Amino acid sequence: MTTTPVAPSLIATLPGRYYTDPELFRTEQERIFAHMWFCAVRSADLAKPGAFRTVQAGRENVLVTRTRTGAVKAFLNVRRHRGARLCTEAVREVRRNLQCPYHAWTYDLDGRLIAAPNLTRMPDVDRSAYGLVEVALREWLGYAWLCLADEPPSFEETVIGAAVERLGDAAAIDRYRTLFHTWLAEQLREPGGPA
Ligand code: FES
Repeated sequence: MTTTPVAPSLIATLPGRYYTDPELFRTEQERIFAHMWFCAVRSADLAKPGAFRTVQAGRENVLVTRTRTGAVKAFLNVRRHRGARLCTEAVREVRRNLQCPYHAWTYDLDGRLIAAPNLTRMPDVDRSAYGLVEVALREWLGYAWLCLADEPPSFEETVIGAAVERLGDAAAIDRYRTLFHTWLAEQLREPGGPA
């Protein structure tokens, strides 16, 4: 087979294995994507306290909830008892708490372990150490943004800074924000709330 040399004015792509090698994919996830902010959920999709969504973020499944105080929080979707997935649905609403179907460990919407069978008979189990593992979350322009890193990079510099740089106009973001708030106020006036 003959290969055509790459013309100097064209940019050569990476060798094929960079697109298919599972080990390179794992390294990319670990070293790059696990340290970046990304847009995960529309805030309006978590309209009421108790609403949650599960999203895949790289190799992790993340649970995004609307708490009783109206805040939006994110946790690794992992049971603290046996390590399997806590919520299997992509979208759901619960009345008050999240309960594991296996042994009924129960977490509030802020991720705290609030009940488990026989917990009072196990004084060595510190329930504060067995809450859901929180994931960094920021709300901006009507979206919840997540970062899996223990020490996320500055949201202002990386996300807001990049948006302003690409638009070349900080005022465009303010116009979008105004449009979004107008839209949201209209949706909230509708009987069914945000679509
Ligand atoms: S595996 Fe969920 S409570 Fe035991």
